[in-house]
Amino acid sequence: MGTSVRVKIRPTSWKYEAIISTGSLAEAGRWAAKCLGRTESKIAILTNRKIAPIYLGLVTHALERTGFETYSFILPDGERYKNLSSIETFLQYLGEKNFQRTDAIVSLGGGVIGDIAGFAAAIYLRGIDFLQVPTTLLAMIDSSVGGKTGINTPFGKNLVGAFHQPRGVLIDPAVLCTLEQREITAGLCEAVKQAALAGGKLFDQTRELLDVFTEGDVSKVFTRKENARRFEQFIAAQIRFKSEIVAADERESARYVGPKSRKILNFGHTFAHALEKSTDYRYLRHGEAVGHGVLFAAELSKRLGLLDKDSVNLLRDVVRRCGPLPQIHHIAPDEIRTALRYDKKTSTERFNGFCSSKSESRESSRAIKFRHPF
Ligand SMILES: NC(=O)c1ccc[n+]([C@@H]2O[C@H](COP(=O)([O-])OP(=O)(O)OC[C@H]3O[C@@H](n4cnc5c(N)ncnc54)[C@H](O)[C@@H]3O)[C@@H](O)[C@H]2O)c1
Repeated sequence: MGTSVRVKIRPTSWKYEAIISTGSLAEAGRWAAKCLGRTESKIAILTNRKIAPIYLGLVTHALERTGFETYSFILPDGERYKNLSSIETFLQYLGEKNFQRTDAIVSLGGGVIGDIAGFAAAIYLRGIDFLQVPTTLLAMIDSSVGGKTGINTPFGKNLVGAFHQPRGVLIDPAVLCTLEQREITAGLCEAVKQAALAGGKLFDQTRELLDVFTEGDVSKVFTRKENARRFEQFIAAQIRFKSEIVAADERESARYVGPKSRKILNFGHTFAHALEKSTDYRYLRHGEAVGHGVLFAAELSKRLGLLDKDSVNLLRDVVRRCGPLPQIHHIAPDEIRTALRYDKKTSTERFNGFCSSKSESRESSRAIKFRHPF
């Protein structure tokens, strides 16, 4: 059982595999040995206080059984810890434990932990190996693949970072059983974003999968045997889409414009980041903000004459089926406008009719005068 997706970054020929296999966490040791090509090294597992009691023991045991010397560094839980101070303390820890360039970092967690671990790996000794073990749906289908790493600053989200590709990605969908419903909704919103950009089969597959979640208890959804294969295939299809984009445009080149430009993955993100920043990263999950952002960008595209009404309604229906999103009506438009000014994206792209990135920021800022477009 299980499936894999090969990621190959064209300009650098960097290759790695994303393995998607239910129950594979227990095999993390053999997998790490294969990815790194060695077992005689130290591995620092970066995780957080919520995930550690559930999965750290299993992963540590699997790595040690294979011969790795393991260390673990546990951060507090939350987007607000994706900052310079977490990086500093983690780098200090690696230094104290005398980590060398032949050693590696394993990220065990969602997108927050993955981004911090990847950034630390990119800058410690000017770059050491790192492996991604994503534990949220969002991290599985999106953030663990593609090599974007980084942290938030007081000026905005993800404003400091580096491109640093992992040596491998291990996805065990069974870990989604312990994820809160809100986090599933957040992950599904990112999946809808990618599916909308891809269109065709991925969009249909994603829409069909949403029906499974109407069945009720999420934990049962992931443990039901007949669903396992379906989830593996769904996650693999999402990663395949993302990796095709990343392969062609790893660094999100400002000059490269086209359907495979990495900028298209920012669909809905200008508004999403502004919402997150203006609520101090505490009110919305990232994926929930993306859900709002996708609807905002779609509505904006409609008003600019780039998207028809039926497509907007279709998108609205699919986002609604991901689960309830927190209200945003109370957030002051001025706060959002200020946050938009600090967005790092600076050029306009159009794809599948949706308005995304460059001046999504400028245009969103103007459109915010409508205040509640939905
Ligand atoms: N690098 C990229 O390409 C990229 C792409 C998209 C998003 N991101 C970043 O990812 C972050 C969002 O990631 P996220 O949505 O995974 O959030 P997250 O990492 O904060 O995880 C969400 C919550 O779920 C908990 N959790 C994680 N796995 C769990 C499990 N299996 N069981 C129980 N609880 C679990 C976490 O502790 C946390 O409380 C943002 O910072 C965003 O900027 C990065």
